[in-house]
Amino acid sequence: MAQVAKKKAALEAVKHVKDNFIVGLGSGSTTAFAIEALGERIKQENLHVMGVPTSYQAFLLAVESGVPITTLEEHPVVDVTIDGADQITPELHLIKGMGAALAREKIVASASKLNVIVADKQKRVRVLGEGNQVVPIEVLPFAISLVKRKIVDVGGVPVLREGKGKLGPVITDNGNALFDASFGEIGNPAELDVRLKMIPGVVETGFFIGLTDIVYLGTDSSVEKIERLSK
Ligand code: 5RP
Repeated sequence: MAQVAKKKAALEAVKHVKDNFIVGLGSGSTTAFAIEALGERIKQENLHVMGVPTSYQAFLLAVESGVPITTLEEHPVVDVTIDGADQITPELHLIKGMGAALAREKIVASASKLNVIVADKQKRVRVLGEGNQVVPIEVLPFAISLVKRKIVDVGGVPVLREGKGKLGPVITDNGNALFDASFGEIGNPAELDVRLKMIPGVVETGFFIGLTDIVYLGTDSSVEKIERLSK
């Protein structure tokens, strides 16, 4: 079952946390297992650890799990961040953002000395965009129509993400909208990332290129560790 695989990967990642660490708390169902396990370690081992949440979901879960909260203003350097992913390549390039938390996730990852990604093995792909995976793109509401046109110009098919249990667009924790854009298989994600980021009104993309240090990929019976070869 995917839940078992996710939990196994999350538990491995939590082992990277040491006493007095500032920990980036990613978002999503896999990271949720890590936040709960971190709360458990804090209690059991009396650790002095603080978490920087990447979303309202992570914030609430951290509070429930007994993980003290801090901010990047108080702690601008994060020791380790544990987060999930939607696709992972052998080079450890990622697509993230199906949980709409990509902007804060990328900010916290960029502030981190070590980035650890946790996922079940189904997230592993040969190339980003495989299997019609979309690229989430966070957009200022004022710029929705412009950005939509410009995404088409760079070869994408953008769809405004609609809410579930709410009419109209999904609004991120930052008050923005999201496009899910299809590009097919993406040969050069770093280049596409730059082109998308150049569009006025684009806040952030779901490409995480060159940020990840370690990936734990879980199955029902094992966890595979993949490390980035060079920084
Ligand atoms: C949220 C994310 C999540 O980490 C990503 O969508 C993976 O989520 P899950 O662990 O639930 O599969 O990027 O913005």
